[in-house]
Amino acid sequence: MAVSTFKIANKLITGEGATGKLLDETIRLNMKNPLIVTDDILVQVGVVSTVQSILKGLTTGVYTGVKPDPEIALVEECTATFRDGKHDGLIAVGGGSAIDIAKSVSVYANFKGKIHELFGTGLVPEKGFPIIAIPTTAGTGSEVTNIAILSDTEEQVKKGIVSDYILPDVAIVAPEMTLTMPKSVTAASGIDALVHAIEAYISVNASPITDALAKGAMQLIYANLPIAYENPNDMNARENMATASLMAGMAFGNAGVAAVHALAYPLGGRFHIPHGVSNALLLPYVMEWNKSSCVERFRDIAEALGESVAGLSDLEAADRAVSAMRHLCDVVEIPKGMRTFNVPEEAIPSMAEDASKIERLLKNNPRAFTIEEIEQIYKSAF
Ligand SMILES: NC(=O)c1ccc[n+]([C@@H]2O[C@H](COP(=O)([O-])OP(=O)(O)OC[C@H]3O[C@@H](n4cnc5c(N)ncnc54)[C@H](O)[C@@H]3O)[C@@H](O)[C@H]2O)c1
Ligand SMILES: [Fe+2]
Repeated sequence: MAVSTFKIANKLITGEGATGKLLDETIRLNMKNPLIVTDDILVQVGVVSTVQSILKGLTTGVYTGVKPDPEIALVEECTATFRDGKHDGLIAVGGGSAIDIAKSVSVYANFKGKIHELFGTGLVPEKGFPIIAIPTTAGTGSEVTNIAILSDTEEQVKKGIVSDYILPDVAIVAPEMTLTMPKSVTAASGIDALVHAIEAYISVNASPITDALAKGAMQLIYANLPIAYENPNDMNARENMATASLMAGMAFGNAGVAAVHALAYPLGGRFHIPHGVSNALLLPYVMEWNKSSCVERFRDIAEALGESVAGLSDLEAADRAVSAMRHLCDVVEIPKGMRTFNVPEEAIPSMAEDASKIERLLKNNPRAFTIEEIEQIYKSAF
């Protein structure tokens, strides 16, 4: 067995009602004046007031400027709020976008250089302010990963700060925080979590630990995403999705994600297609490409997605994994085809060039690509 390292947030608190532990954790981390990092929608749906009422009696500030697929400028803006308010810690309340902003601010607030100096792997010099992450989507797993993804609007690409110093101190994963998600967000973020699990499972860096988490996540998501999509208030399905997203985050936070994410980034960076939808648009075609290189793993995926594969050849079973994914995307009404999002066909060569540079992710993929082969995948997904 190859040597592998496993790292996650320092403490996980899960289950219905887990938000009730927030005050204790805030005090334990010595936060006397934390900044809540969130967005206007989460204020409107009442999620933020739930958090504020738990923190009653403590001085807090609120930054509500987070936007989906957050731009780098939002880190600067949120950092200014953090510094002006003399805050001493961050409580992220939101999806991956809010959590990634909070993770970035935690290490940028005391950093002397420019934010661009932090993009890449291992470039953060030291641990920053403490972070408690409370996800309100069941998708990104950002509450347990060492990555923050930001949009560079000038270069029209997504960039990552990758550092163990941005692993949250506490992740509070409570299904009640996800009940108000609109259907489209439930679907897109749920598919993102499933792609994390699938990509972690076929990653060249997979380990027995990440395998167990990834398989468990696949089973839970396949069984519960359609229920959460149809019945947003089904607490059991929401809880299973929250747990699965966390498990998938622990899996990919260590084994990595791969080609689906690499090819999806130009769709998010340039055309602002929601992250989970960009993944879903490419997933079946990248699965087709990968299946011959790790066909037994695809058999396992088919089984985890509830397919009966007894008596099938490995290749037939692998096909079932792809068809099961297509079926799930249909059930949760993910739009099909890049053209639906007005992506011009002429953009494909430069998108392929951008994707081919995302070596950080492509190196995890079980099968290599040439730029022409990436173009071919985009054409199939068009
Ligand atoms: N850091 C990581 O490990 C990691 C992993 C995967 C994705 N990401 C990044 O995360 C971002 C996507 O995050 P996301 O999919 O969680 O979506 P998001 O955070 O962008 O939120 C999408 C929308 O849903 C709304 N929303 C979220 N929770 C809600 C709730 N409970 N009720 C009502 N509305 C709600 C938000 O206000 C927002 O408008 C992308 O930028 C992606 O690149 C990061
Ligand atoms: Fe993702």
